[in-house]
Amino acid sequence: MTDIKSKNITWHESNITKEDREKLNGHKAVVLWFTGLSGSGKSTLAHAVEQALYDKGCRTIVLDGDNIRHGLNKNLGFSPEDREENIRRIGEVAKLFTQAGVIALTAFISPYRADRDKVRALLNDGEFIEVYLQCAIEVCESRDVKGLYKKARAGEIKEFTGISAPYEEPLQAELVIDTAAITLEDSARAVLAFLRDRGIVA
Ligand code: ADX
Repeated sequence: MTDIKSKNITWHESNITKEDREKLNGHKAVVLWFTGLSGSGKSTLAHAVEQALYDKGCRTIVLDGDNIRHGLNKNLGFSPEDREENIRRIGEVAKLFTQAGVIALTAFISPYRADRDKVRALLNDGEFIEVYLQCAIEVCESRDVKGLYKKARAGEIKEFTGISAPYEEPLQAELVIDTAAITLEDSARAVLAFLRDRGIVA
């Protein structure tokens, strides 16, 4: 639970609405929330989708776990409480981007269902698009791009997702992509097709 320490504060509405900004940009503003194990391909796919959206003239931002933990969330570790706070902050940041008319693509393990659902609840209906990168841990471990699975197996990293910390699969993901079975290009195409079907982009 987040302590509420701010008192005597008043909400100020913007003159320019989210809808005004969407009209200017020519597309809807949503959050594409990529979730899955480390090495499942979240960042890779988020950047591929961003490239495709950029090429169509859409305004986008990628928020990536490793990057955000270098700055905004550098004071957070990997305990359940810190991961909860990590996702809470990113949910708020992603919401700010949607209010600015931007499509936010987030690439965080976000292992807890309750934390992801809180972000979903923070946004309007249809604005939170959960993309589950379903990829067997054996495949993620064999990729071991950052060498972290090896360290986790050796006990050098505690609370490592999939090894010594849980990953709770989404129950209501808008999209499920098996990155072991589908190419990056086809995965990106599936996300784009979804966005077109929903009328989010042309
Ligand atoms: S989350 O669980 O809080 O959503 P986040 O996506 O921000 O995690 O960060 C995950 C990245 O941190 C991984 O891709 C990996 O590079 C690195 N990392 C370092 N320690 C851990 C750990 N204990 N568990 C998972 N990832 C870790």
